[in-house]
Amino acid sequence: TAARAGGHGKFAFEPIDIATDFAVHVPEGYKSKVLVRWGDALWSEAEGAYDPETGVSVEMSDKVFGENTDGMELFEVDGKEVITVNSEYVNPKINLPAASEGIPQNADEVKLLKNLQGVTVMEIAKADEGYVVVKDSPLNRRITHETEMALEGPLAGHALVQTNADPEGKTVKGTMNNCGSGRTLWNTYLTCEENFNGYFGATGKMPEGEGYTRYGIGGEGRYAYEKFDPRYDISNEPNEPHRHGFVTEINPADPTSTPKKRTALGRFKHENASMVHAKDGRVVVYMGDDERGEYLYKFVSNGVWEEGTDGGDLLNDGTLYVAKFNDDLSGEWLALTPETTGMDAAEILCFTRMAASAAGGTTMDRPEWVASNPVKVESYCALTNNKNRGVKPNAGGDDTAVNGPNPRETNNYGQIVRWMPANENHADTAFTWDLYVMAGNPTVYENEYAGSSNVNAGNMFNSPDGMVFDSTGMLWIQTDGDYKNEGEFAGMGNNQMLVGDPETGEILRFMTVPYGAEVTGLCWSADKKVAFVGVQHPGGQWPDGAGKPRSSVVAVWREDGAVIG
Ligand code: FEO
Ligand code: CA
Ligand code: CA
Ligand code: CA
Repeated sequence: TAARAGGHGKFAFEPIDIATDFAVHVPEGYKSKVLVRWGDALWSEAEGAYDPETGVSVEMSDKVFGENTDGMELFEVDGKEVITVNSEYVNPKINLPAASEGIPQNADEVKLLKNLQGVTVMEIAKADEGYVVVKDSPLNRRITHETEMALEGPLAGHALVQTNADPEGKTVKGTMNNCGSGRTLWNTYLTCEENFNGYFGATGKMPEGEGYTRYGIGGEGRYAYEKFDPRYDISNEPNEPHRHGFVTEINPADPTSTPKKRTALGRFKHENASMVHAKDGRVVVYMGDDERGEYLYKFVSNGVWEEGTDGGDLLNDGTLYVAKFNDDLSGEWLALTPETTGMDAAEILCFTRMAASAAGGTTMDRPEWVASNPVKVESYCALTNNKNRGVKPNAGGDDTAVNGPNPRETNNYGQIVRWMPANENHADTAFTWDLYVMAGNPTVYENEYAGSSNVNAGNMFNSPDGMVFDSTGMLWIQTDGDYKNEGEFAGMGNNQMLVGDPETGEILRFMTVPYGAEVTGLCWSADKKVAFVGVQHPGGQWPDGAGKPRSSVVAVWREDGAVIG
């Protein structure tokens, strides 16, 4: 259409070159501007809370935008535009400049770090240029490591999730390591808990078993929480880690609502969630577990959903499957049941990784984002890379051998797999698959490390991670890879966002982010004229040009005001 004219083919832009600097670059005819930075006030009382030398004060730390922005979604609530955004983790050396080696030295410092992670819900509004955050909006909300939430689904109330503070096993504090995102068909937000293991530590005797080792739980916590808050000390609360690692549903329209941890979708290091409506009316959620040698999953609800209705607790009741990819480009979804896993229903949801191994899923090269094409019955998963195949990261004893969709021995570049469900029904257990792209470097290699035929010297990249389809069926790909621009990564530059055509395979570079940063999260304004893009852990002094680097969300739009998504 005329609104998408310019560029060539279905691409409404001329691709840009790589960059190695500390700036954001977009195509000619496009503009970009920071929407919100780590430490920016969400309420008037927190204005000025951010200090370029010391960061954010403890008192104001739950009234500002969190650090290290990740997955995000935009919702329309009573005619207002609301963005929900994850803050995946914190950089302690930036947040605690006075602390030794960035390790918290007291409970206040722990509180500061807890508050700067989690989820932000914020109203935004059109401005002269781009958008601004609406301070003091009644829809604004911060959800942190201390926010109360409900454990929902078959694992709720089970002995495995009971603790001293919550003997009923139904009320949990906090959602943590919120990585990628998803949205339900009924317009709620799905935040995905990834590396939750890193928040727990043992000050005394460490509980034993594969239930801990397979998830990397043990030793010292990443932020020393366990020294100042007994809830994070697994020698004191061995079941607390069993209450994290879920997909959590948040209603952005009601700031008083209780977030719901959906245990039926399994417990693992959730990257994101892609929900689709199956031909037979059930809802299907595709999910990746981001660790080397782990799996791709899907949840299929028992109940059906009708367009325009509230999904209620549809995500509490259904079947969890793990993907099995065959070398002949066929595949099947293996149901995780007591019969296929030798585990009971609660154990399957608490120790999902072990259930998937028992059922015979296909080990993958770090499954990051999953995305589903809105104009075709197919879904994609970014397999970001696998730097040490054969070196088993967990104690699970998984076979991480080369296999169909993971065909390269050492895989520093990554690939994107896609699958087409049988009978055009996402609830079907059979599918066919192919590789949409194998990233590589054709200027360094002539073998399989040169990448697939849709990779060339002008569009090369490594480590695909974020992936979102726009409304026209174009696939936006974000990278989180090696940005040193040397050796086998020479010519790739800083991390980037590209746009791919699923039909032709063509991929063009749309955006580059500052040196050091990865690109995380993408959503569009309600009129699809502005894209919001996450810039996580930038280097240098971006975007202020002085003081500390600040993770931020950037708005991107066309100067002629045309639709871009
Ligand atoms: Fe938080 Fe797998 O990225
Ligand atoms: Ca990621
Ligand atoms: Ca990544
Ligand atoms: Ca990251």
